[in-house]
Amino acid sequence: MPASAVDEALADASADDLAVLLIAYRKGVAVGCAGLRRAEARTGEITTMYVSPPARRLGAGRLDAPGQDDRMAHSHDTVDWAEMGPDLIADAEVNAPMVDQALGWLAERVPQAGLVLDVGSGPGVAAARFAQLLPGATVLAADGAAPLLALARERAQRLGLDDRIATREVKLPAGLADLPRADLIWVSGVAHHLPDPAAGVRAFADLLRPAGVLALREGGLPLQCLPAEADGGLTARINAVDIALARDHAHPMGAIIAPRSWPELLAEAGLTGIESRSFLLDLPAPLPEAPRRHLARMLRHTRELLTGHLPADDLARLDVLTDPDHPESVLHRADVFMLRAATIHTAVRA
Ligand SMILES: C[S@@+](CC[C@H](N)C(=O)[O-])C[C@H]1O[C@@H](n2cnc3c(N)ncnc32)[C@H](O)[C@@H]1O
Repeated sequence: MPASAVDEALADASADDLAVLLIAYRKGVAVGCAGLRRAEARTGEITTMYVSPPARRLGAGRLDAPGQDDRMAHSHDTVDWAEMGPDLIADAEVNAPMVDQALGWLAERVPQAGLVLDVGSGPGVAAARFAQLLPGATVLAADGAAPLLALARERAQRLGLDDRIATREVKLPAGLADLPRADLIWVSGVAHHLPDPAAGVRAFADLLRPAGVLALREGGLPLQCLPAEADGGLTARINAVDIALARDHAHPMGAIIAPRSWPELLAEAGLTGIESRSFLLDLPAPLPEAPRRHLARMLRHTRELLTGHLPADDLARLDVLTDPDHPESVLHRADVFMLRAATIHTAVRA
């Protein structure tokens, strides 16, 4: 949004009134702002709000004041997960050769599981896999985005698993207290979105039944997709920016760096038998069509999210790599591949 538009919209506001300027982002792009004035101790008042014209009527100006209480403003209120169903499904399907190994390893550790919790399940791809791997278990997929849970239910029905997969809309971390205790708790790509990851891990640990296993999918090795010469250091620069934004709690996806390592947080939560294992995704060139398309979408998403943070040359390179009409695009080039690792940190309730 041009600064002049903001200036114009706020022209009538008294500068003395504006104690804090809140900026609203949609998919990493600033779409509006609001001035917040201190009214009295612990109370603020929204004085002026501006929503850029393209973002109007999309709910950017809707305030969820009670939602601020449980500090979810950090991630769930700034990232529209509900819109990401197709991307989360494509991501899970492309990564299935890696994640399925991890899920198989976990299922073998709790063969008698009665209840599996998939916290932050998204569209329920892992929940369905657990239901297939553990025929004696019921799986509860819990997430804050109702449209993703609807996709999870559709998937369960399509696979004939709907009698053993349930869904529950929960807002983390507050909603954890209402979830049932489980023999296996799978938390994939979610803990680093919580405002206080250490408290989050303690809350997950409290949901374990005796001998139950908590598994956090966090970290590993970032995706490589081009030979060094073609990559030219782009991947490393993107990773460095990602980490810096997460460290500064400024990441557009709400990611943060946990205060200590995940195994340390598991130990602090009173769990034992802590073990970390990494699983590889190795899709060599020539890359099939579906992962190619997903890779191009991921790179475009990265370009949108990091527009204000990467040098112009890198943004231009990302444009080339994702341009369907450019021969150097990852959609066409012969040398593109996908290589990455996912680390699963596990621990047991004694
Ligand atoms: C990166 S996705 C991971 C989805 C899935 N677990 C996977 O590995 O593909 C993060 C998921 O966590 C959910 N989520 C993030 N923050 C949340 C919160 N505060 N409350 C409830 N759900 C949340 C999102 O809706 C989304 O489905």
